[in-house]
Amino acid sequence: MTLCGIVGYIGYRDVCGVLLDGLKRLEYRGYDSAGIAVLNNKEIEIIKEVGKVSDLERIVSNRAPKGNIGIGHTRWATHGGVSAVNAHPHSDGYKRFVLAHNGIIENYHELKDELSAQGITFASQTDTEVIAHLLYKVYDGNMLNALTYLQSRLRGSYALAILNRDDTDHIYCMRKGSPLVLGQGDGEALCASDIPAILPYTRKVIYMDDGDIAELSPRGIKLWDERGMPIEKKSFFIEWDLSMAEMGGYPHYMLKEIHEQGGVCRATIKGRVHDGKVDLSGELAMDEETIKGFKAIHIVACGTSYYASLIAERVFERWTDLDIKVDIASEYRYRDSKISPDTLVVFVSQSGETADTLAAQRKARESGAYSLAVTNVQGSTLARSCDDFLLLKAGPEIGVAATKTFMGQITSLYLLALYIAKIKGTLSDQKQKELTDEMIQLAYKIETILEREPSIEDLAWKFADYKNFLFLGRGMSFPVALEGALKLKEISYIHAEAYAAGEMKHGPIALIDPNVPVVVVAPKDSLYEKTLSNIQEAKARHAPIIAVGFDGDERLASDADHVLYVPSTLEEFSPFVTVVPLQLFAYHVAKKRGCEIDKPRNLAKSVTVE
Ligand code: F6R
Repeated sequence: MTLCGIVGYIGYRDVCGVLLDGLKRLEYRGYDSAGIAVLNNKEIEIIKEVGKVSDLERIVSNRAPKGNIGIGHTRWATHGGVSAVNAHPHSDGYKRFVLAHNGIIENYHELKDELSAQGITFASQTDTEVIAHLLYKVYDGNMLNALTYLQSRLRGSYALAILNRDDTDHIYCMRKGSPLVLGQGDGEALCASDIPAILPYTRKVIYMDDGDIAELSPRGIKLWDERGMPIEKKSFFIEWDLSMAEMGGYPHYMLKEIHEQGGVCRATIKGRVHDGKVDLSGELAMDEETIKGFKAIHIVACGTSYYASLIAERVFERWTDLDIKVDIASEYRYRDSKISPDTLVVFVSQSGETADTLAAQRKARESGAYSLAVTNVQGSTLARSCDDFLLLKAGPEIGVAATKTFMGQITSLYLLALYIAKIKGTLSDQKQKELTDEMIQLAYKIETILEREPSIEDLAWKFADYKNFLFLGRGMSFPVALEGALKLKEISYIHAEAYAAGEMKHGPIALIDPNVPVVVVAPKDSLYEKTLSNIQEAKARHAPIIAVGFDGDERLASDADHVLYVPSTLEEFSPFVTVVPLQLFAYHVAKKRGCEIDKPRNLAKSVTVE
């Protein structure tokens, strides 16, 4: 089983180049092994190897199979260890069917027993291999019949790209629970787990839905539902261009994406603020009456998106009269939260494919609540399954650690809060103007911080060898502390914990000693004095203190050992500026430690399994 990236191509180009390029663009989804399969002259050649796509590329360059039809896979192993034999693509014993899979076949034990009892032997320890053997067994010359049968037998999740040795004119695809996008070019077609793999060839895409079966040929794409009935699907034009998915001279995607944040903030606000007021009426499906009827709002997300939601929680409660609750999707989906039809449930997800977030959305939908997706991917499952969606203007995010999409999320959620406040009449015109005027300034402030990168890098180098960090913040700064700690741990593998600063005395203070640097997010806001007291408590126990504070705050400089200064802003907006030095700090610590910044170990960008 895997949580990984798949790509398939059929057309006129040399397929190896397309597959390897696509796999590199999908490598953020999985990177412990990779493989390709090329169909030519009724033979399928498979090359697969442990390691990165660049390792596979080296092997392929010596013996690149010729052909114009093929599939590829980059793996993030869960079931079946990391080995060449477990790498995809997998095949039946006769190499008639060769396939790449993203997902988990939950009943693979049962299917394997059934197939083994019929004398079939398995080459790998993966769940995926059963699919190839099952297909071989049921295929009677009609691919559609075989695939609908397969749908009826497989439990769990899958996105599949399949080659049939005897059918040199098609690639077949199926999807349930794992993403799969189809690209329709001129005389060529592609399938991939995500858009960047398709972008070099076409911007016209079709998003597969659960149960769909697709047949790709150079002449077009045909689709059927799970009963084998032909279906038509709307195609989308992707507005991202190829350069957005490339490194653009930066050493890592993460650094490029951190530097894009001023632009993301600007693009998100553009066209949505008029005369000191936010207007989302042209984009959201919800009308004013619907908004006026909302009594509660739940915001549900995972990881960084959850921290963005915690920031939004604090402004929703300030600016609107809504009862607000924010939860982690993997908790929310199993809790007994009271979700009523007058609850707006907002799902925040960069990818729009996170399995727990999708499951939480299904639950909210069943309760009759109005659901809104805040996502970076227009045609994602989340965007398509919610009643409404607000698209982030972040462009593709390739680095596994989310940065610019966090910025896009908080900007979008703030706009949503201001829009709801306007319609519900909970903020005066003057306050709305004050807030939107400041919001427009944020992009410049973010860009000012980016110019200070060299001093943040210097500090990161001084602290790169510590083993534990504590991050503290209060109010608006608590979720920023959580996000700062998450960034540091996920890309540098340093243990970092974040606490609401007021909680320190209730336990975490026991951790503090000279070997545990404390990073305190301390903008001059209404809780500033209290945060300073927390700095004193940590200092008294000889912890090195790094503070993030507003320009000109000399008091902070006398209390902390090091201060990362950011331009000052209104209390509500402090996360927009305080998070940036923490992202850069994590980046440079990880760089100093020689870590794989864009592809941290054990992580995958889209968590499409529970
Ligand atoms: C951390 C990170 C993850 C994601 C989380 C949710 O840098 O990227 O914590 O935020 O996996 O992913 P999405 O937003 O795609 O639902």
